[in-house]
Amino acid sequence: MNRTSDSTYFALQANLGVTKHLGGRGATDELARLCHVQGGSRVLVVGCGVGTSACYLAARLQARVVGVDISPAMVRRSARRARKKGLTERAAFLVGSGTALPFDDGSFDVVLSESVNSFIPDRVRALSEYRRVAKPGGTVGMNECVWLESPPGDLAAYLERVTGARFMDAKGSWSRLLEQCGFDAVSEHIHRTGILEQWCSEVRQADAHEFVAAWGSFVRGFFSNAEYRSFARTALKVPASAGRMLRYFGYGIYVGYKPEVDAAGRR
Ligand SMILES: C[S@@+](CC[C@H](N)C(=O)[O-])C[C@H]1O[C@@H](n2cnc3c(N)ncnc32)[C@H](O)[C@@H]1O
Repeated sequence: MNRTSDSTYFALQANLGVTKHLGGRGATDELARLCHVQGGSRVLVVGCGVGTSACYLAARLQARVVGVDISPAMVRRSARRARKKGLTERAAFLVGSGTALPFDDGSFDVVLSESVNSFIPDRVRALSEYRRVAKPGGTVGMNECVWLESPPGDLAAYLERVTGARFMDAKGSWSRLLEQCGFDAVSEHIHRTGILEQWCSEVRQADAHEFVAAWGSFVRGFFSNAEYRSFARTALKVPASAGRMLRYFGYGIYVGYKPEVDAAGRR
């Protein structure tokens, strides 16, 4: 079982109705462009969270999107978003793990994930699954939080304790894994971001009322749920180095192609 399935960090986010990735909407646009998402593309969004990007791609680019997430609460949030936006014909959501995807081989033109794979212990298995469900010649694209330079040990330990994620170095690490899992023409685009820039990008991609509702849920949860308070106590033990976090921390957009034929010459 993936350790994130019972993570308080994600339970809290599902309850608040907000999930995120570094770079916000601009990063989603870049990922979609590099992966050639267009009208009618069959797109799988792994770790779709509350469905913000999946619904955006269905609405903006007219893609046919399926979102999967290991958390049933996230999937319920995503499906509700699609209903509210009148997107149910182009956006569907189901519970599933990136390491065991419930789809036939070659089902998708594009497989995307945003800020998901650093939370998955068996990354080779996840990337191999993305390759399996992509069609030959299809693309797999990821936005991952990465270390731009070696972080202080207490910062890496703090983030792992609070979020469950283990981040990799920006240059080469995810690209090497993609190549190891059989992808061709792997590219990486590394970005730095600032606190204000990141905050603005998050506000831009959330609806204003969602933002207000999330804060309301947070305050209610804090006073009514002991698990939240215990999580908040852990999260508030912030090391001094966290103030300089975005000096060490950024995000990378990694894209690879599934070969048209495999090593044995099969399509
Ligand atoms: C940081 S959130 C990002 C959500 C969304 N991609 C976004 O950008 O808003 C990570 C998401 O990955 C999901 N997740 C974690 N492990 C997973 C797995 N093995 N398979 C599918 N989803 C997973 C979590 O439940 C959570 O919704």
